[in-house]
Amino acid sequence: MLGLKLATDPRWVNIVEKNIEEILTDHAWCEQKAVSNSISLVISYPEYTELVDEMLAIAKEELAHFEMVHQKIKQRGLVLGKERRDEYVNDLYQFMRKGYKREIALVDRLLFSALIEARSCERFKILSEQIRDEDLKQFYRELMISEATHYTTFLSFARKYSGKQDVDKRWQEWLDYEAEIISKYGKKETMHG
Ligand SMILES: [Fe+2]
Ligand SMILES: [Fe+2]
Repeated sequence: MLGLKLATDPRWVNIVEKNIEEILTDHAWCEQKAVSNSISLVISYPEYTELVDEMLAIAKEELAHFEMVHQKIKQRGLVLGKERRDEYVNDLYQFMRKGYKREIALVDRLLFSALIEARSCERFKILSEQIRDEDLKQFYRELMISEATHYTTFLSFARKYSGKQDVDKRWQEWLDYEAEIISKYGKKETMHG
């Protein structure tokens, strides 16, 4: 799905279903990190006007998602837990090229963001199809569509700002690396766990 080379272990849903409180808290913080990531691209690349426009729009959407997840938490009589670390995202980040010109770093940051959107979208799809809770099924279907759009946006910006770089080659490298990483996940009740 969306270029991903390895599907999530189907048993992940069974793990998630046993701890809805944990998945909702973790999910809420994933949305917060998505807001921060968009804003941080604006901070690093203010002169890319089109990118700034789009990142501000995405930040608003991700903030709305954060709010939606918080509503779900409240509706269920739960309380948002403390921020969770996202080990998967930290692992992915290691693949970022360091010490390169900022134009190269930008392409990598956009591909890194596209990849997180793609994997999140895959996880939402699994939840929308397999979770037994009808309310959450519907909820994740809607979010899946939104994250798929973000995936496309990040990937198109990577292509747009690639200059002489071979983006397709680099994207394939990212996909290979992600497949290696994800093979050790799918065992925890977190969005990327
Ligand atoms: Fe989101
Ligand atoms: Fe997103």
